[in-house]
Formats: sequence, structure tokens, C-alpha cells
Amino acid sequence: MIRRATRQDWPEIVRLSVEAFGASAWPWKRWRDLLSAAPQPVAEPVQALALVAAPAEPPPLAGYVALQMIHGEVEIQALAVAKGVRRQGWGTRLLNAACEHARQAGCHTALLEVRLGNLPAQAFYGHLGFSVCGRRPRYYHSPLEDALLMRKSLVAAASPCAKAGADAT
Ligand SMILES: CC(C)(COP(=O)(O)OP(=O)(O)OC[C@H]1O[C@@H](n2cnc3c(N)ncnc32)[C@H](O)[C@@H]1OP(=O)(O)O)[C@@H](O)C(=O)NCCC(=O)NCCS
Repeated sequence: MIRRATRQDWPEIVRLSVEAFGASAWPWKRWRDLLSAAPQPVAEPVQALALVAAPAEPPPLAGYVALQMIHGEVEIQALAVAKGVRRQGWGTRLLNAACEHARQAGCHTALLEVRLGNLPAQAFYGHLGFSVCGRRPRYYHSPLEDALLMRKSLVAAASPCAKAGADAT
């Protein structure tokens, strides 16, 4: 049910992205470039990809997650679940699959930014073991808003802000 996104998923991912984020959704061109890129070798230190949740029943896609792995760290760049199927575990499955994919590719840490006012998403990430490690002022536009930086170790229990806290200042 969770699989790598392909170019064929592009229209539905863009639709879900606009449904979830409105004016601050990624531009369709960014998705096209991500989904059109050929898979990179596992050993490549910088990799970007997206996963989708494709349930047996409609809607065509339950959600998506985009991630970028850079030298042992994975950044969760975008994540959304279709409005009609939230609180059914799809976000959990997507985020866990992204973290497991990154862990198997050698990543030790997951990082993400979330809007200061997006309390549901903060609760979701907290539920899945992410901790707040920093704050990025005026990080988001449309509307302008600070970001909270959140972190999770993919290897073992570790000091929540050991590395990312330093990065955020
Ligand atoms: C955040 C989001 C991805 C969660 O997806 P989801 O499929 O609804 O999440 P899950 O069903 O896996 O929820 C797992 C747990 O997270 C927490 N959680 C999820 N949504 C929550 C909410 N709206 N309020 C409080 N806690 C929430 C709960 O603990 C939940 O467990 P429970 O349902 O047993 O109480 C989804 O709400 C979404 O797409 N939001 C809009 C886009 C967005 O904000 N993305 C993140 C941007 S950084």
C-alpha cells in the first residue's frame, strides 16, 4: 500500500498538496521534477524521492511524503493525507515508511520543519517520536510564519537536540 511515487501520480499528488496547503503548496513543477528523476544508486549520498499511500478503495491516493537524504540525515520535506481519510493511520504509515527507507539507506537522523501554528501536525509528529529542536523565524510564506524544527533519531534513544539543535541556531 505504500510505494514509491511515479510520474503517473503527479496530478493526484498536486491535487492533494493544494487541498492540504492551499497557496503555500509546492508548485506543480517541483513535483514534476522530483517524480521525473531517475532512481539514484543506493550509495549516492544525496537522494530525493516521494512515497505514496495507495489504498485498495478510493480515493486514488490516501497521501504522500517527500523526503531528501543528505549524508546520513533525512529531511521530511512534505507530507499530507487526503482530508477524507485522516485519523485512519495513513500519515503514520507514510512517515514510518519514509523513516525506514532512510534508515536502510544509512540515515541516522530524521528532521522536519512544521508551521508554528500547525498544532495538529505537531501533535502527529510528537506522537511518532519527533521532538522540537529549534525554531526558524519567518521560514514560511503565504502566510509568513515561523517554523519549528523537529528531530528524531533513527538508530537509538539519543539526546533530542544533539545535532539538529546546533543546526537551527
Ligand atoms: C498531519 C497529518 C499528515 C496526519 O495524518 P493522519 O493520517 O491523519 O495521521 P494518523 O491517523 O496516522 O494519526 C496518528 C496520530 O497522530 C496524532 N494526530 C493526528 N492528527 C491529529 C490532529 N488533527 N490533532 C491531534 N493529534 C493528531 C494522534 O495521536 C493520532 O493518533 P489517534 O488518531 O489514534 O489519536 C494530516 O493531518 C494532514 O495531512 N494534515 C495537513 C497537512 C499537514 O499539516 N502536513 C504536515 C506539514 S509539516
